[in-house]
Amino acid sequence: MLLAYLRRKVGLTGTKYGCGGGGCGACTVMVSRYDPIQETVLHWSVTACLQPICSLHGAAVVTVEGIGSTKTKLHPVQERIAKAHGSQCGFCTPGMVMSMYTLLRNNPQPTMEDIRETLGGNLCRCTGYRPIIDGFKTFCNVRTVNSSNSHNNESDISGELFSMDNVLPLDPTQDLIFPPELLKKAERLCFQGEKVRWISPADLKDLIKLKAEYSNAPLLVGNTTIGWFQEEVHPSIHPSTNIHLTTLFYLGVTVGAGCSLSVLKDVLLQGIEELGPEKSRVYQALVQTLQCLASKQIRNMATIGGNILSANPKYDLSSILAAAECTLHIVSNGNANIFGIYLYIISHNFLFAILFFLIANPCALQWEFVSAFRQAQRREFSFSIVNSGMRVTFRHDSNVVENLDIFYGGVGPTLVKARHTCKELMGRYMGTQLLEEEIYVPPTAPGGQEEYRKALVLSFFFKFYMQVTLELQQKVGMNDLPLEYLSALKPFKNEVPQANHSFQLVPETQSSNDPVGRPNVHQAALQQATGEAVYYDDIPSVKGELFVSMVTSTRAHAKIISIDASMALAMSGVVTFISAKDVPGQNRRLWFNNPEELFAEEEIIGAIVAETREQAKRASEQVDITYEDIQPVFFTIEEAIEHQSFFDPKRKLERGNLEEGFEKADHILEGELYMGGQEHFYMETQGLIAIPKGEAGELELYVASQHAAYTQEVVGITLGIDSNKITCHVKRLGGGFGGKVMKIASLSAIAATAAYKTGRAVRCVLEREDDMLITSGRSPFLGKYKVGYLNDGTILAADITYYSNGGCTLDESSFIMEKALLHMDNGYKIPNLRGHGLVCKTYLPSYTAFRGFGGPQGLTIIESVLHEVAARCGLPAHQVRDINMYKDEKCYTHHKQLFSPHDMVRCWNECLEKSDYTHRCLSIKQFNAHNHWKKRGISIVPLKFGIGFSKGFYNQVAALVNIYKDGSVLISHGGTEMGQGINTKAIQIASRILKVPMSSIHIKETCTGNVPNAAPSAASFGTDAVGMAVKDGCEKLMRRLEPLIKKHPQFTWQQLVSKSDMQKISLSATGFFMGPHTSVDWEKSDGNAYYYFTFGACCSEVEIDCLTGDHKNIRTDIVMDVGRSINPALDVGQVEGGFVQGIGLYTIEELQFSPEGVLLTRGPSRYKIPALCDIPPQLNVHLLRNADNPHAIYSSKGIGEPPVFFGCTLFFAIKEAIAAARRERGLSESFPFSSPATAEKIRMACEDCFTRMNPPDRKVKTKPWAINV
Ligand SMILES: Cc1cc2nc3c(=O)[nH]c(=O)nc-3n(C[C@H](O)[C@H](O)[C@H](O)COP(=O)(O)OP(=O)(O)OC[C@H]3O[C@@H](n4cnc5c(N)ncnc54)[C@H](O)[C@@H]3O)c2cc1C
Ligand code: FES
Ligand code: FES
Repeated sequence: MLLAYLRRKVGLTGTKYGCGGGGCGACTVMVSRYDPIQETVLHWSVTACLQPICSLHGAAVVTVEGIGSTKTKLHPVQERIAKAHGSQCGFCTPGMVMSMYTLLRNNPQPTMEDIRETLGGNLCRCTGYRPIIDGFKTFCNVRTVNSSNSHNNESDISGELFSMDNVLPLDPTQDLIFPPELLKKAERLCFQGEKVRWISPADLKDLIKLKAEYSNAPLLVGNTTIGWFQEEVHPSIHPSTNIHLTTLFYLGVTVGAGCSLSVLKDVLLQGIEELGPEKSRVYQALVQTLQCLASKQIRNMATIGGNILSANPKYDLSSILAAAECTLHIVSNGNANIFGIYLYIISHNFLFAILFFLIANPCALQWEFVSAFRQAQRREFSFSIVNSGMRVTFRHDSNVVENLDIFYGGVGPTLVKARHTCKELMGRYMGTQLLEEEIYVPPTAPGGQEEYRKALVLSFFFKFYMQVTLELQQKVGMNDLPLEYLSALKPFKNEVPQANHSFQLVPETQSSNDPVGRPNVHQAALQQATGEAVYYDDIPSVKGELFVSMVTSTRAHAKIISIDASMALAMSGVVTFISAKDVPGQNRRLWFNNPEELFAEEEIIGAIVAETREQAKRASEQVDITYEDIQPVFFTIEEAIEHQSFFDPKRKLERGNLEEGFEKADHILEGELYMGGQEHFYMETQGLIAIPKGEAGELELYVASQHAAYTQEVVGITLGIDSNKITCHVKRLGGGFGGKVMKIASLSAIAATAAYKTGRAVRCVLEREDDMLITSGRSPFLGKYKVGYLNDGTILAADITYYSNGGCTLDESSFIMEKALLHMDNGYKIPNLRGHGLVCKTYLPSYTAFRGFGGPQGLTIIESVLHEVAARCGLPAHQVRDINMYKDEKCYTHHKQLFSPHDMVRCWNECLEKSDYTHRCLSIKQFNAHNHWKKRGISIVPLKFGIGFSKGFYNQVAALVNIYKDGSVLISHGGTEMGQGINTKAIQIASRILKVPMSSIHIKETCTGNVPNAAPSAASFGTDAVGMAVKDGCEKLMRRLEPLIKKHPQFTWQQLVSKSDMQKISLSATGFFMGPHTSVDWEKSDGNAYYYFTFGACCSEVEIDCLTGDHKNIRTDIVMDVGRSINPALDVGQVEGGFVQGIGLYTIEELQFSPEGVLLTRGPSRYKIPALCDIPPQLNVHLLRNADNPHAIYSSKGIGEPPVFFGCTLFFAIKEAIAAARRERGLSESFPFSSPATAEKIRMACEDCFTRMNPPDRKVKTKPWAINV
């Protein structure tokens, strides 16, 4: 594939690997080709991971390196994404840049909608997309909204996080020209690889000839389906020419099978414009589907022929094309034939056929209506769960059906026609009863969700019925459709997020040279935007380098009887197989006296070491392992409770007297909330390079680790080598989010074992699927509660038991549980409060840390308690929250830590005001009263989040500050840069103290050889600790320079440094920060667990579609107390990025496990993180003014973790919206609902006649497709 070629053969590592399946956009490049028909060069953004090299004959490829660089000249796209703070970890940035660059090559003055469409297929896990859009929208002719703050008149408040003054203008004359030597005619080409033969025919005739010769060879066109299942051994035929031609004519459109979906969309849009709305219904339905089908890059590559002939029921186009009676023109065995799509798909073998054309009519009949429907896990860039195409013709001037065609995808193994319903309804009025009986989705259907799919089948038809009725109503004035039903017909519109920010400016007295408190750009943003930033896998391979690929267990709980690697070892390029017996030291990783095996029976069993990654991967699949299953095997929290399977320690926190509280209460409520887990989905997968130095056992590791010291320690124990011989280098991480603290140490130890055994450098780069499988993520939680409350919503007592699913080993789960318990009071003064925390031991892969570290789970469960109490009292939820809030100037948490909630209350009040909460509640009420099938909800929550490690000794770090003779400064510290901007803030701090410009200060890497024994960059404490250590180091140096400064006040910095060198003053100093000694006495429920608390409040509004379960995030307002921000741009970035991860956690990110415990959702095609379409169109972030914090550096506050929890506002707002729907239908407003609030759960909670039709027979036990673990 082009990606591997660019990165490994050409050394252009700016293009990144994120998933390998077209699902993330990190590998986006621009491909240009000359089109001899239009006589022009066309530019396409494509995903390099799916682009076969052979298909590029005659094409020019432009990568991020080709458009600009920091050494020569930046391209404006690169400069603007960097300046607008659109690059945090930077791993997605080159892909973003190339998508935008391609758009500008095609259209130098894009609209906002163009930008939205272009970036829909580029995922970013850090930023929350808003700053990227802000940077890019400066290319549109729109006013940039980044500075106004309509609610605030204070003169020291600003909203300007960046300025586009003095940016480079877009100058298309500077673009690379298309190489003239590529302007040539197609010719027959043949490439022969090790396993694959590739033939590109010269023309159509040649294609038919070739197909007759190699009838078994698949036709490979866009490769977006085949690309997933590479390793084909047949010849592949790539018909690069001619069959992409598309002709639009009045009676229809003839679409060449090789026409890309992007071109098809453009042609159809042209058709709609020419024919007008009435006569172009088929085109409209197709365009509506194409808009959310895959991403721009995939649509640029994927062809209509490939979409139809893949015959994948999840693919969207066949159902609507079949309904529209499109015809396929097929050549098979030398014969040309015409087929209807449905018949062809259900009855033919596609391998032997070539699809040439498809003809689609625009649907010009006056009494004919056509529509398409789809519902997916995420509104865009996601396969549909169910899709449908429907067409009806009515008898002239009546609503009697003359002809009806209904097709569904996603309800069976192939396209399904509701044949019986269509036949029976002919000559009658439309209705859903027949359909209900006809379409059966078996419980074992791939993807599961049978009840939901069934509901969608009916709901789509009902929507169609309403659409048609509305049109008939307008035509013949019949069948009055209630006005409140009309909302069902409007699909949600995806919009570009607009933002309104505010932050406090630095005092006027602050020197203009002092960068602290100002929104400086991330230190490496320009390198990240140009592809120059180096991540571990961008390091060129060293001589003799090998690759290691893990062999993982396929059984959840089993004894290994034998391991046979002989087949694998016989394969080409394989060097060795390593397992526990190859470990020279100890086969374990130790963590707080808790050992975990490296080569274990449950996760990684061994590893194949080979010359290349492909060879290693292939061979690792050939290792034969014989298991003996062990009982019991279970995966879920409920099962673990049944088996009483818990890890130690079991924790408890308690204040007050529960029994007394319950006695005084007016009501007692018992309930529970389940919160699913979450995959980190950092854009850069885990890995490292281990390089043995061949002398005294020295080993260098270039590793993506948040905890370099721990990696060093584990590798040392594994190899039996002292830490002083092992050096870990961490330049930067492409996102960490807590996932690169623990598991990376095990991977490093395994790669180091391979390096030790072979004496050669060994590289390990996990593929996305393996990363998701091996490294796991946030634990699922179940909170069971009993709560006693008064009629006015005051909570007197709450007793909550938290269960988390820890998986098969403890990892950090006990500390995660502790954090959940320590946050169980959030901002509420519940006088009698008790929490038990139990980590369940199951047979799933072990869970680990994830941003928030149990905080979001602990907080959400108490918020759910408040929400339910409000619902039972019939009171607005915000009122019940307000009544229960800590309000006194001095308060104690439930673990007896003293704090002042003053700033939390300020955040809460400001959030109520800035979100216009009261007024919007009224509007929502009105909206809900006038809309039956769409409902809105709103929710606001406060936040109190503990900062720092509750294990006191972790609150320490060192920094090394070196001043060189030329005056430049190099800082090393124990933190790791993973996008949060720790290096930028450290440089700002050093710049203030040393009084040198930020440009003279550099941070190269984190290195255990420079700064030893550092704690992980985690717990939102990295910048606090590192900032203090850097400050200490710089102050030490300044104290040494002080006498010289006094003596020579006129000296420049360079003169001062030079003089001090002459005077033998050491220009190197170690700074150290010894943070507070936090600890908790779990027996006494007593202790200062945290250094201090970060406060905030968040309000979100959503709208749901009761018929499909789709939802739209409408607006979010966040007020956050970050103390005196060191860098408001980075802090706003953390708030938005954390919140957007919360959107994923609470709404769309759903991990699915099979009943056998196999993770089904591996990779972005099955697991959906928020994309641009999920960002609320209004996302406002305000940093609290005049907030101080005596505990942390320059009065700032840690902010990395807290905002994730704010995603729960969407969850509760969705719950409110569902409650409104249920209220209207006379159903109870209390209903079971778990997180994440997926489309399936929303739809099924909005019970109605469609969900109740044909209920599953609960007595018949069938194996579910997926289980909640
Ligand atoms: C990340 C991602 C997201 C996606 N999301 C969606 C989505 O939301 N909805 C959706 O509908 N689809 C989606 N797709 C699927 C995509 O639309 C199809 O993969 C694409 O249309 C196939 O076209 P292709 O040219 O790439 O086919 P290829 O991969 O080249 O071929 C696919 C199959 O069709 C055969 N074939 C192709 N052309 C012909 C022809 N002319 N005659 C005979 N046989 C032929 C091939 O031999 C092969 O068997 C997604 C794909 C990816 C990678
Ligand atoms: S790596 Fe190509 S799209 Fe993800
Ligand atoms: S900046 Fe986008 S993934 Fe990190």
